[in-house]
Amino acid sequence: MRIVSGIQPTGNLHLGNYLGAIKNWVKLQEESECLFFLADLHAITVHNDPAELSANCRNMVAALVAAGVDTQKSILFNQARVPAHAELAWLLICNTPMGWLDRMTQFKEKSGKHKQRSSLGLLAYPVLQAADVLIYHATHVPVGEDQRQHLELARDIAAKFNNDTGTEVFTQPEAYYGETAARIMSLRDGTAKMSKSDPSDLSRINMTDDNDTIAKKIQKARTDAEPLPATVAELEGRAEATNLVGIYATLEDRSVQSVLDQYAGQGFGSFKPELAELAVAHLSPIRDRYEALRQDTGAIDEILRDGAERARLLAQPAVESAYAALGLLRD
Ligand code: TYM
Repeated sequence: MRIVSGIQPTGNLHLGNYLGAIKNWVKLQEESECLFFLADLHAITVHNDPAELSANCRNMVAALVAAGVDTQKSILFNQARVPAHAELAWLLICNTPMGWLDRMTQFKEKSGKHKQRSSLGLLAYPVLQAADVLIYHATHVPVGEDQRQHLELARDIAAKFNNDTGTEVFTQPEAYYGETAARIMSLRDGTAKMSKSDPSDLSRINMTDDNDTIAKKIQKARTDAEPLPATVAELEGRAEATNLVGIYATLEDRSVQSVLDQYAGQGFGSFKPELAELAVAHLSPIRDRYEALRQDTGAIDEILRDGAERARLLAQPAVESAYAALGLLRD
């Protein structure tokens, strides 16, 4: 197994990223070869503030290490330091039909009413994402559910390139979702995903929130008036309840059913304080480590440089094979 995944260094880690993806990264690095990166080249597809981007990249490294990414076991780097990502993206862009990109729901969401003014990079975004994983022959890509369409596109792009060039340059990657947390929803609306771009800070738990803020956000989370049911099937149609029970289960690495076994018949008045206590117990050590690590920018830059050096070596063969498959002369 070769595991590859990325995160955009825009803003900070939130509970959705952590439970949907990063917790799995930390688990997978124990048994497999892993490459994790900051998708800084993806971050510039929308409005960019250069000083903020550099600061966000360094903070994200501190957050990932604080959350358990071990740079002895995993390779951690930023895309911009491994030019092969951008190189392969161009080769793949030239072999990807526009129609495939037009169907991407995240492009539609992000470009909104301003499609004509959006960058060409925002449209091409999923092709760079395909390059990110294909370049390392990733077998598994641990992501949240919101990346499903992008991952399927990466598989299609790999198949088309191999087919068109009559080669086997690329391996088909598979998505890897956590058992319960592939989709953590907003605390204010159980039908919208928890996201860094939601204007309401009450909608998400940031990994930098202090204990009181975490507890307050859970206390204010939207719910319904019914007590918790005894079975998973009875959660159907109760988006907010499903989300809070799912968060509890994932934090504790338990099944949703076992959480319901414990809380069936109880209302949110008693469930929420226990969820808040659990969230604080899990997140506060990560936050404290993060605050300490982010002070040492020298150490952070060293992690990224070292990771990039290792990643460059692994990336080179696939780019060279792709150039050769297309008949491009090199050396
Ligand atoms: P990004 O930065 O939006 O999110 C990073 C990871 O967190 C997951 N995630 C969630 N999971 C569950 N519930 C949520 N509410 C939630 N919000 C975010 C995402 O699914 C993701 O796994 N395009 C990607 C970054 C990327 C990438 C890649 C990922 C670039 N190249 C190659 C995998 C492989 C993104 O913007 O993720």
